[in-house]
Amino acid sequence: MKTILRTENVVKNFSGLVAVRDLSFEMAERNIHALIGPNGSGKTTTINMITGAFPVTSGRIFYGDTEISTMPTHQIARLGIGRTFQNLKLFTSMTVMENLMVGGHQMMPSGILRFLIDPATSRKEEKQVEEKAKQVLDFIGMYDLKDEKVSSLPYGRQKMTELGRALMMDPKLLFLDEPAAGLNPSERVEFVNIMLKTFDLGIDLFLIEHNMDVVMNICSRITVLNFGAKIAEGTPDEIKNNDEVIKAYLGNRYQSEKA
Ligand SMILES: Nc1ncnc2c1ncn2[C@@H]1O[C@H](COP(=O)(O)OP(=O)(O)OP(=O)(O)O)[C@@H](O)[C@H]1O
Ligand SMILES: [Mg+2]
Repeated sequence: MKTILRTENVVKNFSGLVAVRDLSFEMAERNIHALIGPNGSGKTTTINMITGAFPVTSGRIFYGDTEISTMPTHQIARLGIGRTFQNLKLFTSMTVMENLMVGGHQMMPSGILRFLIDPATSRKEEKQVEEKAKQVLDFIGMYDLKDEKVSSLPYGRQKMTELGRALMMDPKLLFLDEPAAGLNPSERVEFVNIMLKTFDLGIDLFLIEHNMDVVMNICSRITVLNFGAKIAEGTPDEIKNNDEVIKAYLGNRYQSEKA
């Protein structure tokens, strides 16, 4: 199977604190891959390095055959790597539609070279971004809420808006940092359905998640971190029954009945 993402001995040091140590893993294409582990084990830091938000201290990251560990974040986004944030990064005083359009403009040529573009091109582009935003809103089931201010929406809708904004950038590989956190059970079911629909569009998913029902039900492979180091990798069944993972993180509540 083809590898879409690979890290090689990646390390992140924050002035003495080793947040990620010597992390190597691979993610195969057409997969929902999870990264799990206790609080502070380096999961968000790993996504931050892959998406270029933080430079790696050492090691290398590849997207397909392309090394991305030396690239700035906008260039990585343009290759097709998108993300959502654990603490939402929305413009809360703007509407849902406006938030999506900000995401869309980042991918347009004039988003970067605005001063070189004439007004006619700019207007045409605006229309394209708006059309796209409408499609995405429809896809995430939020078309009716497009003119609502984000701050007036329940948390579950805000998280869905964050997913919508990430989809505006046409990712091929999407990183979701704790998509189910803070959602009530019905919001969680809805979010899982939209994630599966997103996967069916051809977008590979990499998620960090503490909700094990979500992880064990939708992910085909799981990587486990503890104190910044990988302690296990495998299928949901392998991970549920891995003694080190049980000790460090899961406890034995997910363990299969031993024959
Ligand atoms: N910008 C930063 N500067 C300094 N230390 C940081 C920074 N970001 C993260 N850390 C530290 O790195 C370690 C790993 O943090 P990280 O946010 O990656 O954990 P996590 O696995 O995502 O945890 P959680 O499940 O709580 O979200 C922690 O000790 C954290 O305090
Ligand atoms: Mg985190």
